[in-house]
Amino acid sequence: MADRQLDVLVICGSLRKGSYNAALARTLPALAPPGLKLRTAPPFDKMPIYNHDIQETTGFPAEANAWADAIRSADAVIIVSPEYNWSIPGGLKNAIDWVSRMKDQPFKDKPVALQSAAGGILGGSRMQYHLRMSLTSVDAILFGRPEVIVTFAAQKFDPQTLELKDQTSIDMIKQQLAAFEKFVRRLQPKE
Ligand SMILES: Cc1cc2nc3c(=O)[nH]c(=O)nc-3n(C[C@H](O)[C@H](O)[C@H](O)COP(=O)(O)O)c2cc1C
Repeated sequence: MADRQLDVLVICGSLRKGSYNAALARTLPALAPPGLKLRTAPPFDKMPIYNHDIQETTGFPAEANAWADAIRSADAVIIVSPEYNWSIPGGLKNAIDWVSRMKDQPFKDKPVALQSAAGGILGGSRMQYHLRMSLTSVDAILFGRPEVIVTFAAQKFDPQTLELKDQTSIDMIKQQLAAFEKFVRRLQPKE
């Protein structure tokens, strides 16, 4: 019997319209092997800054519940994010903080792959390292290599269409997605 398609949730850490990371995320379906079906995560930008008092009084924000449900229901997650001040953008970290407090913690045992695009020479790799630590703290299972790190992003995307033009990056993405599918399948419970 053929393997069923894996349901993969794609989270983008940038909120801006012209985001290179959002553009990177948009390239993934065309570069993914047929075994992966990618879908976009619901927004996280309206979640208040995490405060235990809010959780105690009014409960989890609706957006945090929707985000958590989307993660729980996926076979795997890909996070595509910029680096802010050598680390994880605050909005993304805040969303992770909210769902980390939930009883049925959505990242537990979830395979996660990371990608980043950034303006500089390190391409968001410091953010990836910090995200790797945070996600390990919530029991996610982090995919290792190949890594997707798009350096000097302004030179790699078409300035008008934001299409990814850099063949090395495209090849790197294809290799990562193919390896990530194998990684996720190895972790699937036997039916
Ligand atoms: C608040 C802020 C902090 C940033 N810090 C870094 C950084 O630490 N390292 C880096 O490579 N780029 C940094 N940048 C530049 C981003 O790489 C660049 O703006 C990138 O385009 C953001 O991703 P996006 O296009 O997906 O929004 C920063 C940008 C902002 C707005």
